[in-house]
Amino acid sequence: MAHAMGVKRLDLYLQFDRPLLEDELAPIRELLRKRSERAPVAYLVGRKDFFSLPFAVDARVLIPRPETELLVELAVKRLEDVGAPRIVDVGTGSGCIAVSVLHSLPEATGVAVDIAPGALEVAAANAETNGVTERLQLLQGDLLDAVQGDAFDAVLSNPPYIVRGDPTVEADVRDHEPEQALYVAADDPLVLAKAVADQALGVLKPGGFLALEVGAGSAQAMRAYLLELGYVDPEIAVDLGGIERLVSGRTAAAD
Ligand SMILES: C[S@@+](CC[C@H](N)C(=O)[O-])C[C@H]1O[C@@H](n2cnc3c(N)ncnc32)[C@H](O)[C@@H]1O
Repeated sequence: MAHAMGVKRLDLYLQFDRPLLEDELAPIRELLRKRSERAPVAYLVGRKDFFSLPFAVDARVLIPRPETELLVELAVKRLEDVGAPRIVDVGTGSGCIAVSVLHSLPEATGVAVDIAPGALEVAAANAETNGVTERLQLLQGDLLDAVQGDAFDAVLSNPPYIVRGDPTVEADVRDHEPEQALYVAADDPLVLAKAVADQALGVLKPGGFLALEVGAGSAQAMRAYLLELGYVDPEIAVDLGGIERLVSGRTAAAD
């Protein structure tokens, strides 16, 4: 209601006994109709806060999730002592990871990659709103293909990890969020996360940091894969829901 009327939520309570006019009711009814079709509230109001920053969202991008803030927190912690760190965010969507890291670390620069041009338009708007446009390059491409030849202190990614047909996916997500942001084209939920880890070896500096968000039940397998690839100090972090959500590791330091 507050969104439709262009007022603060508090104003609804302050004016609770004022009858609504028909032209105020019409847009509220329309929002209710869309919500009854399970359109997520973030798409209806066009905004989702993430890491205490405002992000514009629409059906071209995944709605940023609170558990992804864990990835940003860890990246900021690992990079705060690195002078002018350089990061790449693979599958940036709304830009929430790259924009939040750059916003927290004023000397950081980076690249945000997505395969979907529409997502990059949303990410560009969010970089602008949050004041990091000058430090963030947006590139269309498949995983890390577009940044070969560059060198990064961190590769960060929340890649798609749902296997098609997964019955636990809720209608809000299944029927409204972009397919390209949700699903892997394989039976292995880690297929894209593993590909990012493989390719990251070619663009990470010695001692560079890789952090990947994975789906419930996949963290141990991802950790084992990082060890197989030669990453050191692989770690798993648990989200607020108690789910092993984040897998990270480092490339070996230079001799
Ligand atoms: C799960 S969403 C994550 C979006 C955002 N980083 C977040 O955490 O909210 C995955 C994103 O990866 C993008 N994507 C999917 N396949 C890709 C590929 N092969 N290369 C680059 N980006 C890809 C999708 O378009 C989508 O924006």
